[in-house]
Amino acid sequence: MAIELPNVPLPSNQLVYSNWSDDEIEQEALRLQCAIQQHQRWPIETCRNIAHLTLEINRLKEKNGVFLIAHSYQTPDIIYGVADEVADSYTLSKAARDAPQQTILFSSVRFMAETAKIVSPHKTVLHPSPEAGCSLSDGISAQDVRDLRARHPGVPVACYINTTAAVKAECDVSVTSSNYLRICERLPGNKLIFVPDRFMGAHLQKSLSGKKEVIVFDGECEVHAVFTGSKVREWKNRIGDELTVLAHPECSAEVLEEADFVGSSEKLIQEAIRLGIENKPDVMLITECGTAERVLAETKVELNLYGACVMCRHMKATQLEDILQTLQNPRDNQIIEIDCDIIERARKNLDEMFRLAE
Ligand code: 13P
Ligand code: SF4
Repeated sequence: MAIELPNVPLPSNQLVYSNWSDDEIEQEALRLQCAIQQHQRWPIETCRNIAHLTLEINRLKEKNGVFLIAHSYQTPDIIYGVADEVADSYTLSKAARDAPQQTILFSSVRFMAETAKIVSPHKTVLHPSPEAGCSLSDGISAQDVRDLRARHPGVPVACYINTTAAVKAECDVSVTSSNYLRICERLPGNKLIFVPDRFMGAHLQKSLSGKKEVIVFDGECEVHAVFTGSKVREWKNRIGDELTVLAHPECSAEVLEEADFVGSSEKLIQEAIRLGIENKPDVMLITECGTAERVLAETKVELNLYGACVMCRHMKATQLEDILQTLQNPRDNQIIEIDCDIIERARKNLDEMFRLAE
């Protein structure tokens, strides 16, 4: 008779671990500390304390053929301890589509895991933190898009990828922070509807001025909305002309006006590292804190990172324990299920993104 496992989360003291030897734990702790590259915040004792978790997660991934994808805003123990792919949302959606493994575990917010399911519906997509939403994707419904379409018949609708599957199903194409300008410029006609980020929409309108009118929804990212132009100017006055300001396009227009470079989380990391190599070490990164953590871990060049970052509570909801629990005994709501009709319509939208972005 088959044993029925309880479909409830295992408390962390009930997670099952192999008998890792002291030597294996020590080797793993050293690997983690070396990869995370922040010896003060992640001392060897902390790495020792999480080593049994990363060892167990990696063992289960290998045994069960699981591809673990993590967004850059996840914590360093996840990024450097267990992830197979770390990047911005565009690259991660392609990685989910192309992964040969039949199971994907997406360590991030809900809409990204839903996107993975849409582009690979035959795969099992696990999402350890079903409560991890996003102020952008939670701020717009499919009905909102239908209402906009009714008010502006025939106008193409582009949605930021930070939307639910149901919203994507109502839109013509998705865009990400790395391709919104390129894709929207290529849409037919002299008008477009852009949802749900009003700041990215304003940036788009500015870039397309004289070519297209952009009708914008009024959502915003609760993290990037915190930054102000006056704070950036204060830092510029304090540090001087040598300060290079890098900002994510979810920031307000007054912040983006002060920026020397606007790009996705991945592009910001690459640019900060490039500036360090070019001996321009004074950098202000206006975005979520995970971006600076990756820069610090991934370059040996000295950088002076100024200003303050803001943490996304949704992105930081996932811990190693949640990942292990999901691999050992996923709850129903940790397995992404989407209605076939919605998948089919949202898939067209994402295929159009891949087509126009390349
Ligand atoms: P990126 O695609 O730039 O990683 O952005 C995703 C996101 O949610 C940023 O807040
Ligand atoms: Fe959403 Fe903002 Fe968090 Fe990104 S940082 S997941 S846009 S709330």
